[in-house]
Amino acid sequence: MRRVISGMKASLDGKIEGPDGVADWVQAWSEDYGLSHQIDACLVGGGMYPHYEQYWTAIQENPDTLHPMTNRLPTSGEKDWARVAERTTHYVVSKTLTSAHWPRTSFLRGVEDVASLIRQAGKDIYLMGGARLVSGLIDAGLVDELRLLVYPLIAGDGKALFATARQRRALELKKAEQLEDGRVSLIYSLCLTP
Ligand SMILES: NC(=O)c1ccc[n+]([C@@H]2O[C@H](COP(=O)([O-])OP(=O)(O)OC[C@H]3O[C@@H](n4cnc5c(N)ncnc54)[C@H](OP(=O)(O)O)[C@@H]3O)[C@@H](O)[C@H]2O)c1
Repeated sequence: MRRVISGMKASLDGKIEGPDGVADWVQAWSEDYGLSHQIDACLVGGGMYPHYEQYWTAIQENPDTLHPMTNRLPTSGEKDWARVAERTTHYVVSKTLTSAHWPRTSFLRGVEDVASLIRQAGKDIYLMGGARLVSGLIDAGLVDELRLLVYPLIAGDGKALFATARQRRALELKKAEQLEDGRVSLIYSLCLTP
């Protein structure tokens, strides 16, 4: 069976964005979890998809100009992900969204559809977020691995990664690594028992 691996960037107090809806402590939204080579599908929450599509379309169309949403140049890692995203199927989990600009995007209506996707043949699936989808799929027992990049910051107010998680869930630490700028990479597998 395909594995579902979530990659998220969070502050030390578990916030994935500040109160204004932006994680301004994240300098690049590149795929920094080492997943690109092992996945052939992305799972994206309905809450984040419209903004996500806009963000990466801007880089795909103008990789070497200031990004209209951040006013900074895309990093080389972001340009890499823009290319991978263009050829990778994206599945948006949403009961309300019905259309996307990207031709390789389709829609799943809930947890049952996600479970069916996992049973299909293929490579691993990159669960990109946002917070509510990651928590919902962990609660449903559909996530195999969590890769967190933890930033050296107490963000205070903002959206917590696990604010909507309802089930207790034990994790097994597989790898911890100190990165530059005080960030820490943590890889956990999800245990079947609580
Ligand atoms: N820091 C990071 O690494 C990172 C990564 C990704 C995203 N983000 C941020 O996360 C924010 C979006 O997160 P979010 O929590 O608001 O929204 P989200 O997780 O992207 O989407 C939530 C939506 O997904 C749909 N859904 C379907 N089944 C679900 C289930 N079982 N559990 C939960 N949701 C389900 C629902 O859409 P319908 O109501 O349409 O059915 C729900 O409203 C964005 O602002 C983005 O910037 C941060």
